[in-house]
Amino acid sequence: MESELPKYLIPSPIPAKIFDENLASLPSPLREREGLTAKREGEGKNNQTWLEIGFGNGEFLSYMSQNHPEINLIGCEPFMNGVAALLASLDNPVNNLKIWHDDARILMDTIPDHSIDRVYLLNPDPWPKTRHHKRRFVQIETLDDLARLLKPNGQFIMSTDVADLANWMHEKTWNHGAFEWTSTSQDDWLSPPDDWPLDKTRYMKKALGGETIYWLKFKRI
Ligand SMILES: C[S@@+](CC[C@H](N)C(=O)[O-])C[C@H]1O[C@@H](n2cnc3c(N)ncnc32)[C@H](O)[C@@H]1O
Repeated sequence: MESELPKYLIPSPIPAKIFDENLASLPSPLREREGLTAKREGEGKNNQTWLEIGFGNGEFLSYMSQNHPEINLIGCEPFMNGVAALLASLDNPVNNLKIWHDDARILMDTIPDHSIDRVYLLNPDPWPKTRHHKRRFVQIETLDDLARLLKPNGQFIMSTDVADLANWMHEKTWNHGAFEWTSTSQDDWLSPPDDWPLDKTRYMKKALGGETIYWLKFKRI
């Protein structure tokens, strides 16, 4: 029988070398469950906390953690090479980034209610075959959890270059009831959020090369 989870979701251990060379720059060990919402020293009351699900090689988190030290960032990625790429890309130590090297759904279960300001789900795996649609990240259960952990008016931002997946994510999120779609024009559906750091992921580079990226910007009601 086919296993429910794809193999790469079963986390593999991170080689000690990567810990030794790069983890000194991070405030917490990988896999840390506690303290995700703990305040950092000197952290202001109004600092936002953003969560990225499936960060791939971590281009967005790398940019944000180095250029926006005021934002607390949590990144989830079970793919070990992606975690290593993110760690290797940090030119200087950062103290605003925590990494969860595993399935985001496990971490989401442990995040307190209404504690996250933004969730990014950028170019999730499309699982194009109908019999694999149940593996897509956006499902009623994950939306229930995202609705619980987002603050009121918190943002849920998704992107994809696959039209069928864009429709799926839009329909499921629209019908869920806890989210409001904030786009008012077609241009908006095809444009990244206003504060998006332009070419920061390989998908954005594809978009700059003329390929369509669909952006779904929802707000927690
Ligand atoms: C197509 S890649 C996109 C990577 C990145 N977001 C980007 O835009 O370049 C999808 C990523 O989601 C990760 N992923 C898939 N399911 C996940 C889950 N349940 N929790 C966390 N990450 C997941 C995969 O390992 C993969 O790196």
